[in-house]
Amino acid sequence: MTNKILLVIFLLSTTCTLRAGEGMWLPQLLKALNEGEMQTMGMKLTAEQVYSVNQGSLKDAIVHFGGFCTSEVISDQGLLLTNHHCGYGQIQSHTTLEKNYLKNGFWAKNFQEELTNPGLFARFIVRIDDVTAAMLAGVTDKMSTKERQSQVDKNMATLKENKKLGPFEELMIRPFYHGNQYFSFTTVTYNDVRLVGAPPESIGKFGADTDNWEWPRHTGDFSLFRIYAGPNNEPAEYSEKNKPYAPKHFLPISLDGVQEGDFTLIFGFPGRTNQYLPGVAVQQLIETVNPARIEIRDAALKILDAEMRKDEKTKIQYASKFARVANYWKKWIGENQGLIATNALAKKTNLEKEFQIEVDANPALKAKYGDILPQFKEKYKILEPYVLSTNYYNEIMGRNIEAMRIITYLRRLSDAYDKNGKEGFDKYKERLAGPMENFYKNYSPKIDQQVFARLTKMYGNADGAKEIAASMQNYLMANRIRNYDQLAEEVFAKSMVLDKSKVLETISQSPEEAIKKIKNDPLFKMATKISEVYQEKIAGRYREINGAIADLQRRYMAGLMEVFPNERFWPDANSTMRVTYGKVQGYQPRDGITYNPLTTLDGVIAKYQPGDYEFDVPKKLLELNASRDYGNYATAEGKMPVCFLGSNHTTGGNSGSPAIDAHGNLVGLNFDRVWEGTMSDINYDPSICRNIMVDARYILFIIDKYAGAGHLVKEMKLVHPRTAQSVKKKPKKILQEPFGKQEQKLKPKEKKAIPYRGGE
Ligand code: ARG
Ligand code: GLU
Repeated sequence: MTNKILLVIFLLSTTCTLRAGEGMWLPQLLKALNEGEMQTMGMKLTAEQVYSVNQGSLKDAIVHFGGFCTSEVISDQGLLLTNHHCGYGQIQSHTTLEKNYLKNGFWAKNFQEELTNPGLFARFIVRIDDVTAAMLAGVTDKMSTKERQSQVDKNMATLKENKKLGPFEELMIRPFYHGNQYFSFTTVTYNDVRLVGAPPESIGKFGADTDNWEWPRHTGDFSLFRIYAGPNNEPAEYSEKNKPYAPKHFLPISLDGVQEGDFTLIFGFPGRTNQYLPGVAVQQLIETVNPARIEIRDAALKILDAEMRKDEKTKIQYASKFARVANYWKKWIGENQGLIATNALAKKTNLEKEFQIEVDANPALKAKYGDILPQFKEKYKILEPYVLSTNYYNEIMGRNIEAMRIITYLRRLSDAYDKNGKEGFDKYKERLAGPMENFYKNYSPKIDQQVFARLTKMYGNADGAKEIAASMQNYLMANRIRNYDQLAEEVFAKSMVLDKSKVLETISQSPEEAIKKIKNDPLFKMATKISEVYQEKIAGRYREINGAIADLQRRYMAGLMEVFPNERFWPDANSTMRVTYGKVQGYQPRDGITYNPLTTLDGVIAKYQPGDYEFDVPKKLLELNASRDYGNYATAEGKMPVCFLGSNHTTGGNSGSPAIDAHGNLVGLNFDRVWEGTMSDINYDPSICRNIMVDARYILFIIDKYAGAGHLVKEMKLVHPRTAQSVKKKPKKILQEPFGKQEQKLKPKEKKAIPYRGGE
């Protein structure tokens, strides 16, 4: 489909109504598609104030954080706000037993104390352009998938070659609407991003996994970083001489908070959604894929949980891993329930029926799109054993049996030797040092052996994934092993992988000897056999079928847009910059229950369990609460707000996204969704899809009153958009920023430098 037709569809569709809150929109198209609706919902900004190429706009404060989260600039000195769980790896990397920043928090008293994070980057979007015409030049409907891809690749290379970029700018091109449209993103990336502050886990991760994906929520999930730049404010590698970055725009922070019904906008980098899947795919997800991966993780988590409860050391070692595995385990459970509860399957198939009727009624459409739905059915049916096997393989061999990580390293080491001889071997060995160290620091062979026994058994009995199951059974037979416990015992008794010193000793020998030993290792041998079968029988075919499905999906997307010109279609998330908007709003998770959209510190106290690793509360916070010492940050009713809910359509990657009020001020920090609504990645439903944000006032309160890091609050611009009149006392200057005339910069109450106390 050509660009022009798409644009016409866009414009036509702006007039129709859309389920409130749905959609992850491209910031440069807000003017054409969303501005009216956003203003009707209460936004006081224009689309240009949200996104502009020529003048400072909200988008200039929005930063892709390390490529996996969102963050935003909140001071004129490059201060960045993101989630605690986004900065977790960095906070952990600076943590030692003596300086336990995870447990106690970390607050830099000045620039010198801010901590560097090699590999972490902060990426700005300079501009976004439609490059569909250039990307699809020479592409025809008659081309095969392969031909089409190679033409598109060629076009992309030409485009990149010819594009004139400013200093430090880079060009990134991404497909939208499953390859029907393309946009280019001109980016500038800063590589010196330092850790500035983090609350203790008992605040930043309060409620941990029990509360994850849940409402009511009481987590202060935030951390602070800072971008540093070279002498001319340009990107620069880390250097002591670098200076705090001066942004084109930063977000003022509202002290007025939110009320039910208030407009909110979420700006960020959502990772992936699949809103236009056909019914057969949704059914496969509900009935086959999700149950399999839930079952596997469930088994692994049960073992981890039991061991973590036995002793403190294990708990510390496994807390982060457990959280990572549990996060999507819980999400998939919620997703499945939500898909069923909202009749997602029926919705998709009804749409398909309508689609087919329209297509069949029009010969031109029929020629173009008539075969798609039957093809989907056929292809997904063929895909089933392959997608199931792939999930088993990835979840079991690639993820939940930890020792397989070391096997992967050793295999790469051996590949490096095959390819580049001793030099390749030595080079890769050097690169392994850090990751190995990290792995063994938190590794318990005793736990892994249990996981291994349990999951290899699941692999060997995988229903519907015959070939990979057979590979496991054959391995047992060939080695005369009776059962999976025995397999685990033998492997774990003999493999070097379980013991760091043995692995290090092995790879310190000559490459020939090392590799001979590696290839003789019982776990390595087993993993190699299993992996060979997967690669040979599953991987290639899986890729091939998926390629064909992707092609169908592209054509289906084009078909939907052509057949339903009055529907407004938003492009699935693909880790590019998007705007979503909604309102502060509660919901009814079940019959007879209504959730209020706001929580307070009272709820933290109510959940408090002294000494518990999920629900402990730091002493200082208890004291501040007991004396109601909330500084400037309480609500009008004298409560300390903590989290709130909105009907904004978000997904993974939106973590750390700012929640912005009608005037362009930061009122909250996105960090999660509610469990009942996690199916929004496949079937957004306004009745139960809600995102969860930390209230900005709680963040300020923790920084200022809890941590005594008021110097950071002084850097920020605090505003009162609602009650501007009442802060007339300091009628200094009216700000030049385009965001709400009533704003004024406020100083935190305590003007004197507050002595640094650090978190508890
Ligand atoms: N559910 C949130 C997001 O997906 C937060 C995850 C981090 N927290 C945790 N307890 N695992 O991905
Ligand atoms: N916690 C998620 C993240 O890491 C955001 C929550 C969601 O998936 O919506 O991006």
